[in-house]
Amino acid sequence: MNKCVFVTGSAGYIGSHTVLALLEHGYSVVGIDNYCNSAVEVHKRISKLAGALATKFVHAELDVRNETTLSTLLEKHKIDACIHLAALKSIGQSTQEPLAYLHNNVVGLLSVLKVLQSHQVGKLVFSSSATVYGVPESVPLLESARLQAISPYGLSKLMGEQILNQLVAQHNQCNTTHTPFWRIATLRYFNPVGAHQSGEIGDHPQGVPSNLMPYLSQTASGQRKQLTIFGGDYDTPDGTAIRDYIHVMDLAQGHVAAIEKLFSTPQSFALNLGTGRGTSVKELIETFQRVNNVHVPHIVGPRRSGDVSECYADASLAFEMLGWKAALGIEDMCRDSWRWQNRNPYGYAS
Ligand code: NAD
Ligand code: WQD
Repeated sequence: MNKCVFVTGSAGYIGSHTVLALLEHGYSVVGIDNYCNSAVEVHKRISKLAGALATKFVHAELDVRNETTLSTLLEKHKIDACIHLAALKSIGQSTQEPLAYLHNNVVGLLSVLKVLQSHQVGKLVFSSSATVYGVPESVPLLESARLQAISPYGLSKLMGEQILNQLVAQHNQCNTTHTPFWRIATLRYFNPVGAHQSGEIGDHPQGVPSNLMPYLSQTASGQRKQLTIFGGDYDTPDGTAIRDYIHVMDLAQGHVAAIEKLFSTPQSFALNLGTGRGTSVKELIETFQRVNNVHVPHIVGPRRSGDVSECYADASLAFEMLGWKAALGIEDMCRDSWRWQNRNPYGYAS
């Protein structure tokens, strides 16, 4: 039977790629977004890319914190599971506006949970982040590593995970049917980059990007004068910091695998979605220049406050549990990011 997935934040960077992957795997999708960090144009492009499958995609402008409108929507559409991506995601901005972040991300999650429960939907995928590991004690990071919030954004994700753990423990303990109502997949993404191979959807942060890949792409295109490498004195082979970059198309497949697991097994789990491979800032810049045959002016500057030296996943549990692992490498990520940048120099307003 055709299953329907409710996706919050469906016009966002990860949401748009995930909606497309769900449609391609035979799911119907109800997507919502308040467009605070995206545009209605994204939904149009998803429909265009989906072709005939677009008939299985409906979307609405809606804020997840509005329980009444959320509830009305779910009365109209029978959904089987939810992927909750809607959130504010800038670490830097969260330090300036901590309450706005906590309100949007924590109240938003609570609102989604309440409405799901009242519509008897217990299957949920929650977007968490590698940021919940705080300053890693060692790498690669296992899911069992210590969790720590080092920014209001990180706190909002950690609180989200704790709320979900509590819910699973409490609700399932009171349940006499032995089939847990809540089945929750918490996915901790590492550093999502890249774009759909069509160049039609991708990441377009508002204002000056704080993440490396959009800054790199905008520098390559001439929109930014030069890229500053934040720190060349880390204890790493080339002195620059190491991260686990993961292609957004792989991430989208990871969501489909998690949804399929929730439908087949009555359990809850938290998994890393990363490649398991660390890449330095210099290596990423060099790869971008080589595969795209472009020059990216860059200098080495001081470290950025709050950055860690190395952060990459042990990705084996996701493979063990979901049979999922990343298929694309940094060359693909650099090529696809550049294609998206070139075709949409001003993002969805291009
Ligand atoms: P994004 O900003 O592109 O997408 C989030 C979407 O949610 C946006 O379209 C925004 O308009 C929408 N939104 C925000 N608040 C909302 C609300 N109250 N109601 C309705 N819609 C709302 O971000 P993304 O990169 O696609 O991230 C998706 C999720 O993944 C977020 O939860 C984020 O915290 C998490 N995450 C992202 C990264 C990353 O680096 N991109 C890494 C780890 C985790
Ligand atoms: C990557 C590397 C920078 C910009 C954050 C969150 C993480 C997730 C992804 C949401 C670092 C360096 C960057 C620049 C640089 N988001 N850099 N010059 O900080 O690893 O991760 O975003 O959940 O949880 O923590 O990502 O892309 O900002 O930085 O040298 O102009 O690139 O210092 O080493 P980060 P990033």
